[in-house]
Amino acid sequence: MGSLDWINGEIKAMKEAGRFVPIKVLQGPQGAWVRIDGRDYLNMCSNNYLGLANHPEVKKAAIQAIEDYGVGAGAVRSIAGTNEIDAKLEEKVARFKHMEASIVYQGGLLANTGTIPALVGKGDTVFSEELNHASIIDGVRLSAAQRTVYKHMDMSDLKALLSGSGTSGKKLIITDGVFSMDGDIAPVPEIVELSQRYGAISYVDDAHGEGVLGDHGRGIADHFNVADRIDIEMGTFSKAIGSMGGFVAGPEYLIEFLKRKARPFLFSSGLNPGDAAAVLKSIEIMERDDSLLKKLWENSQYLKKRLTEAGFNLGNSKTPITPVMICDEKLTVNLSEELYSSERVFASPIVYPTVPAGTARIRLMPSAVHSKKDLDFAVEAFERVGRRIGILKRN
Ligand SMILES: Cc1ncc(COP(=O)(O)O)c(C=O)c1O
Repeated sequence: MGSLDWINGEIKAMKEAGRFVPIKVLQGPQGAWVRIDGRDYLNMCSNNYLGLANHPEVKKAAIQAIEDYGVGAGAVRSIAGTNEIDAKLEEKVARFKHMEASIVYQGGLLANTGTIPALVGKGDTVFSEELNHASIIDGVRLSAAQRTVYKHMDMSDLKALLSGSGTSGKKLIITDGVFSMDGDIAPVPEIVELSQRYGAISYVDDAHGEGVLGDHGRGIADHFNVADRIDIEMGTFSKAIGSMGGFVAGPEYLIEFLKRKARPFLFSSGLNPGDAAAVLKSIEIMERDDSLLKKLWENSQYLKKRLTEAGFNLGNSKTPITPVMICDEKLTVNLSEELYSSERVFASPIVYPTVPAGTARIRLMPSAVHSKKDLDFAVEAFERVGRRIGILKRN
């Protein structure tokens, strides 16, 4: 017996439970259609909301930055120095978010796992939303602060937990802005109010709000008009903004503090210049023109209407995130496989542990670069397969 043999047992169990999903290899850029194994598939599962991942101006900016600055940061920014593109990007993000300053990390996950432990530790309490993203959960674990989970969207539960929490230690209330697997929106104004009443720090992860909510896609704080009252806004560049990296925006002193305390900033090299330049260009495009944002919403409303009419359950989404709730894991995997193999629709199954057991779904992500014809193609494929495998009633 080798010391890693147990892994094969785990893989077998995952396969039996329908939780071992093969990862597709793409042979070209992200877009409405993607090429896999030499065939084109309708792409319904990317977070490339605005189509910026393959935007000509964004690619040009990245290529130019590689010409000017090369492909690597060299080392961590506090040791090898910060590239001027990173500095420009931090200024740009702060202005875009109506915040004083920002710090750029190498990803959204690192923004959360780096920032949370810098803010709270032993003796402090984190009030964390039940459906928060894994990167928040990991950030809280790394912090060693006590974690108190409040029920999804339930402000009376949060209030009761806050009022019973005593006065010692710092308090941090942390929530996803838009819930990534469900598409519903956290009641941020109430959260901000509770945080002020109970002397807690408010922290909102806007990964799925950027480029989607607010004026020109500025995100959830702008959507609710609370940018001047949220303490910390965190976000990612890997979804609507089309590239990679993450950030935290807030008061200048917080950002200066994080640059001396956050471990992904201190112990991991900075973004590549091409990525930073791509993000800068994407934000510039979003600022000057909101036609992509409008198209995204138009497309998502159309997709939801057609799927609902077809008889699918789309949960409680208020954003373009479109979860087609199947619940049974094997049926969800089966639906996804059939869509892929017989309909050329790429729509990944989302199963435990990404979502709670028994709530499996296919999460459809319409984007600004889908056409109506693409969305009709997806809905008709769902209807055909849905009937064939017994999710929809046969006519
Ligand atoms: C709510 C939320 N936070 C953070 C992240 C992590 O972002 P990134 O992919 O940039 O690491 C994600 C991405 O899945 C997310 O959905």
